[in-house]
Amino acid sequence: MRILVTGGLGYIGSHTCIDLLAKDFELAIIDNLSNSTKNVLNSLKKLSGKQIQFFQNDITDRDKIKSICKDFSPDCIIHFAGLKSVSESISKPDEYYMINVKGTENILDAMSASGCKKIIFSSSAVVYGKPKYNPCDENHPTSPLNPYGKTKLIAENLIKDWINITQNSRGLIFRYFNPIGAHSSGLIGESPLGNANNIMPIILDVATGKKNYLTIFGNDYKTRDGTGIRDYIHVCDLSRAHTKGLQEIDNLEPFTILNLGTGKNFTIFELIKTFEKTTGLKVKNTISSRRPGDLGEVWASNEKAKNLLNINLSTSLSRMCEDALKFKRKNS
Ligand code: NAD
Ligand code: UD1
Repeated sequence: MRILVTGGLGYIGSHTCIDLLAKDFELAIIDNLSNSTKNVLNSLKKLSGKQIQFFQNDITDRDKIKSICKDFSPDCIIHFAGLKSVSESISKPDEYYMINVKGTENILDAMSASGCKKIIFSSSAVVYGKPKYNPCDENHPTSPLNPYGKTKLIAENLIKDWINITQNSRGLIFRYFNPIGAHSSGLIGESPLGNANNIMPIILDVATGKKNYLTIFGNDYKTRDGTGIRDYIHVCDLSRAHTKGLQEIDNLEPFTILNLGTGKNFTIFELIKTFEKTTGLKVKNTISSRRPGDLGEVWASNEKAKNLLNINLSTSLSRMCEDALKFKRKNS
């Protein structure tokens, strides 16, 4: 099978590419390198020993995406490319609509033109908004609170409507919770360009002396210790779910939504404690006020994904910390 991966040099995309290459899928990657570098491509080639076609292009370039899709003629597109910062989406909503919504529309247009009928899309737990109950299952109402979440929900709906009008098509939406960790080789991991927003890259910077302390955003939530609760999932469990999704997609409903989380929940203090115990490194921290747009607590019901894909989503939090640190040490 020929798979076109958008955003394939980013954090989750690169891990998924490694898994796909190990299973002998033929890959082409489109990435504009806005949040990744060509070093990742070299690591993918080194780890897999395989060739990968690479196009340094932007998914907002409709004609170019169409022509790549026509030439490569993929059986499926895995669409990771997008912007993902909640706070940035509040200050630059137009960029989020342009890339996350218009970009997805361009992908669907290119699929129609090239006869590609299958798409797997990276969505987020952020589409649920403030949970009415936890664990959050796929039937939980969607009510995103920020432009990032709204663009992800619009993209999901664009895909749903496209599936409705395209014969024999399949759309698989994955709603990720909080992916952390890295590939066990230490060669690929999460290395955002510019300032990191997500918690694990910041913990790693503090633990390795590159940053003085972690600012914990709020200790006044109604949780066990007052700090935010999340469902952290190993990025390799997440990436294997994509490969399994690809293998099973014809057996699923034409349009399927699946949560990807472990179903477990940890506060920030518990995450820090686990990191410190596993690695022996200290994570100095200080408390500040809540981050605008943050949720107090959210974690996944992952029963549907486990049942339909028969996958393991339960790698431990300490293993996530260990692998994340291994990547940091090899790459700084
Ligand atoms: P990432 O930023 O590491 O990867 C995204 C990749 O897409 C990068 O390599 C970037 O250069 C590329 N890209 C961005 N805009 C592009 C454009 N206009 N054209 C072409 N390439 C472009 O992010 P990630 O963590 O790997 O996330 C992948 C996807 O999963 C995103 O769509 C994100 O919204 C979604 N997601 C991520 C998380 C998370 O916590 N990491 C959680 C939920 C959903
Ligand atoms: C959210 C979304 C996720 C989305 C991501 C994009 C949910 C459940 N998850 O992740 O789908 O893709 O945004 O960025 O909505 N924290 C600190 N200090 C820091 C950084 C983070 O205390 O310096 C805390 C946050 O307040 C939060 C937790 O750590 O409680 C995790 O934060 P982060 O890694 O940014 O992810 P989310 O915001 O949960």
